[in-house]
Amino acid sequence: MTVKLETGRVFHRSEPLAELVLEHSAIAPVLRRHRIDFSSKGALTLEQICELNGTSVEVVLADLQRAVRSPDQRPFTDPRAMSPAALMFHIVARHHAFLRDVLAVAEGLALKVERVHAGRPEPLAQLRQVVHELRELLEPHIEHEEVSLFPSLLEHSLTADELREESARSKEDHERTGAMLAELRRLTNDFTPPAWADSTVRGLYHQLESLEADTLEHVHLENYVLFPTLAAQRAGLNPR
Ligand SMILES: [Fe+2]
Ligand SMILES: [Fe+2]
Repeated sequence: MTVKLETGRVFHRSEPLAELVLEHSAIAPVLRRHRIDFSSKGALTLEQICELNGTSVEVVLADLQRAVRSPDQRPFTDPRAMSPAALMFHIVARHHAFLRDVLAVAEGLALKVERVHAGRPEPLAQLRQVVHELRELLEPHIEHEEVSLFPSLLEHSLTADELREESARSKEDHERTGAMLAELRRLTNDFTPPAWADSTVRGLYHQLESLEADTLEHVHLENYVLFPTLAAQRAGLNPR
């Protein structure tokens, strides 16, 4: 495992998102603020994703440069240096555990907010519904990874067809997750509590922002580090 200090490298519009996030941990919050989903669209370049989102690539580039030059950057661990087994352990121990907790807390808060603040102009019922749907999607998804997919991948016990099916299923779930997180950001006005918000509403918005940050990192790790590493290993083990 290596620990790397970030530098003020110059970014280019033609660089793929997933690589940038792996190289520079400080840019993930900038991308989130610009509503850029790097977890499932990491193969796109900065220019392509900005065009897709209707965002100015010049503005995003300037913000990214500022983020990596700011003095409060911290050293970070490069996940590409981890073995697949260590990475799976990290994903389960950190991201899956966090996700279970935050989804349960967020759904409880969303129900309370909807009940207590019915009649407010904000789309609180819709917010509660999206949190519920996200929980219904992700709880079985991570359960499947823990009890079936990750152990099978470690043992190289899947056939080529099974591996293709599993990859397609993961990809679809991850893309749906990204879309639901984007919806939560939109419904909460970028997680900005309204002026009338009490501590429960502020707590809910805070939980949802943490849920977004951690889940984008989690899915990005699976899509752009874990699965590619395992695929490369498999290609080495079973040359076609
Ligand atoms: Fe996962
Ligand atoms: Fe996953």
